[in-house]
Amino acid sequence: MSYTVRPATPADRSGIVALHKAAAVTPGALARTPEEVTPDYGDYALACDICLVAVEADATVVGEIHAKRETVALFAHVLGGLTVAVHPDRQGQGIGSKLFEALIGWARAQEPAILRIELAAGAGNPGAVRLYERLGFQHEGRQVARGRLPDGRFEDDILMGMLL
Ligand SMILES: CC(C)(COP(=O)(O)OP(=O)(O)OC[C@H]1O[C@@H](n2cnc3c(N)ncnc32)[C@H](O)[C@@H]1OP(=O)(O)O)[C@@H](O)C(=O)NCCC(=O)NCCS
Repeated sequence: MSYTVRPATPADRSGIVALHKAAAVTPGALARTPEEVTPDYGDYALACDICLVAVEADATVVGEIHAKRETVALFAHVLGGLTVAVHPDRQGQGIGSKLFEALIGWARAQEPAILRIELAAGAGNPGAVRLYERLGFQHEGRQVARGRLPDGRFEDDILMGMLL
């Protein structure tokens, strides 16, 4: 089914929350559990400097990406706090790549310039890491035992960055 990528509006809030709840069901994907995806999370995403959605013709949100520009002057060229999710039924169809393409295009057009985009992925999410590598993100380090899974096991975070 076809979809459009566009800036999110407040009308997308419940769609964003529903999408993240659905994507959070897959273990090892998003940091939040489905229960942790609250309506407030939709507000948080909408308040970011960039929040883009992929929507179908009937306005169903099937993908979302958001990120924040750092506010401290030293880091003001950095776009971080990036989260991306595509509905499990629509993964592997290019939607995540299109959302990143639009986000990177937006970042390149910002004044003052954004010169760096950074993100982190769980080491147990190799598919996402592969996508980020393909998009041009470089491996920058590893945070050991950054995450703790419901069964008590620890998981490292892989830090990645892209210079524009
Ligand atoms: C990671 C994610 C955003 C990628 O979006 P997408 O629309 O599935 O990605 P695209 O179709 O544009 O690109 C496909 C690539 O994404 C990666 N990928 C990650 N998870 C995938 C999945 N469940 N299904 C298919 N591809 C996936 C693969 O590297 C794939 O490349 P390949 O075909 O060479 O193996 C999406 O799969 C998702 O929402 N996953 C769950 C949430 C998540 O992991 N978010 C990132 C947290 S760091």
